[in-house]
Amino acid sequence: MRIVQVSSEAVPFAKTGGLADVAGALSKALTELGHEVTLILPLYSRFLAKCGAVTETVGEAFEIPLGDRQVRIQLRRTQMPGSRVDVVLVDQPDFYDRDGLYQDPTTKADYSDNPERFIAFSRAALEAVARLKLKPDVIQAHDWQTALMMVLLEAQFRQWVPDLRRTAAIMTLHNMTFQGAYSSDVMPITGLGWEFFNWKQVECWGKVNLLKGGIVFADQLCTVSPTYSREIQTAEFGHGLDGVLRDRSADLTGILNGIDPQEWSPSNDPHLPARYDIVSLETGKSTCKRALQERLRLPVRADVPLLGMVSRMSWQKGFDLIGVCASRLLERNVQVVFLGNGQPEYEDLCRHLASAYTDKVRAVIGYDEAMAHLIEAGSDMFLMPSKFEPCGLNQMYSMAYGTPPIVRATGGLADSVVGATPESLNDGTATGFSFRDHDPDQLWQQVDWALKLFSDMPAWRRLQRSGMSRDWSWNRSAREYVALYEKALARRCESF
Ligand code: ADP
Ligand code: GLC
Repeated sequence: MRIVQVSSEAVPFAKTGGLADVAGALSKALTELGHEVTLILPLYSRFLAKCGAVTETVGEAFEIPLGDRQVRIQLRRTQMPGSRVDVVLVDQPDFYDRDGLYQDPTTKADYSDNPERFIAFSRAALEAVARLKLKPDVIQAHDWQTALMMVLLEAQFRQWVPDLRRTAAIMTLHNMTFQGAYSSDVMPITGLGWEFFNWKQVECWGKVNLLKGGIVFADQLCTVSPTYSREIQTAEFGHGLDGVLRDRSADLTGILNGIDPQEWSPSNDPHLPARYDIVSLETGKSTCKRALQERLRLPVRADVPLLGMVSRMSWQKGFDLIGVCASRLLERNVQVVFLGNGQPEYEDLCRHLASAYTDKVRAVIGYDEAMAHLIEAGSDMFLMPSKFEPCGLNQMYSMAYGTPPIVRATGGLADSVVGATPESLNDGTATGFSFRDHDPDQLWQQVDWALKLFSDMPAWRRLQRSGMSRDWSWNRSAREYVALYEKALARRCESF
């Protein structure tokens, strides 16, 4: 199949979170199954320069309409390192040559022209498909930034470009709290007529809602775990779009993300001082733990359990629960390392804990890829008590690195972590610790249980090995995506 993936970020070119891991790894995994994949991204020149990508100009520059002005677009091409993925970049320096992807990193404010930036990207991506004659069987759009493509494809491009009439349109929902909802002033910029501004199409509570448009117009919808696909059809998790999703329930599939073994495997991770696998786990992990403690100037103690957390510091991730449990946790003989950035109140919480417990807590506020890998490997357990979690990748990375995660059983966390109970420990299926409600006491019970189990080393090793031996590879998920593409294509063919 010829597959076009369109995303606003992808590893190794630009990343703010799991969307980038998925866009990069899924594209690679699909080529490994023998499919032809083109990945379309904005050309964020400052980020591309950091990863050393070399690009070449493709064709002549062209203009696209954006409200009452024309925006100049140049397409460029590069290759995804270590793969056969063809990468097409939308070059528009006024929009994408900035210090952040979506926000000013200093003020943390979203760029005020984000609607223009991503509406232009959605239209330019479809222009790229047409101009480069990609003739895809499938176009897959990721999240609100590319959702308008689903509408433009149906309303305009299928009429203009006959090659696109049979193309299946797939919309992937990575996180329902980001919808691209803007004032109706944005409507003319979309290039759609006002007749689309109604509650059955792109209007939602009086605003233009780009994600809603994607949900309504895509042939098939998917999200990143089976549990989240059910959760988002409820008011609690659907963030106002649960009704639209219930209407499309028959076309909504949950496919659990995988992990990219080239990026996240303790046996070949270039960021680690010692590489290890399930056999050399004990020595490898203790070298990594020592390196982490030394790096962060924590007391070097092999016997003290070290809890790690790598996360966007957002209300999504359960930092409020950590705040409530912190004093109980830090009475114990433990060490805790936080890496992340985001909402100032959670950055402050972590900074405060680090200054109040100087011999126990470190807070690295910022984005640090190498440190994220070292924390996964050097910690004994991993904290991920999310309020909601569409899939979550860090819990999978931590299981693969022999670092049992402590998670709330929501979304992909519920689908990937088997919580330790006497039974699951006994039959060897346990891979971490899991609690049900967004409740600090339930989190604390699991942390307490994990600390107890850590003092029983043979039982702890079994738990680590059980997580490490699970198959987290993308191969499985990529096959499920292919089945979804086939279903969408068959439906489109039926309509001819
Ligand atoms: P989300 O996409 O909601 O942020 P995921 O668990 O799916 O959550 O993915 C997060 C990804 O971003 C992981 O690859 C994680 O290692 C990475 N990450 C998050 N914060 C940081 C940080 N401060 N430094 C380095 N990597 C980070
Ligand atoms: C979103 C979700 C996260 C998921 C990621 C990749 O950022 O918050 O749970 O793992 O997308 O699908």
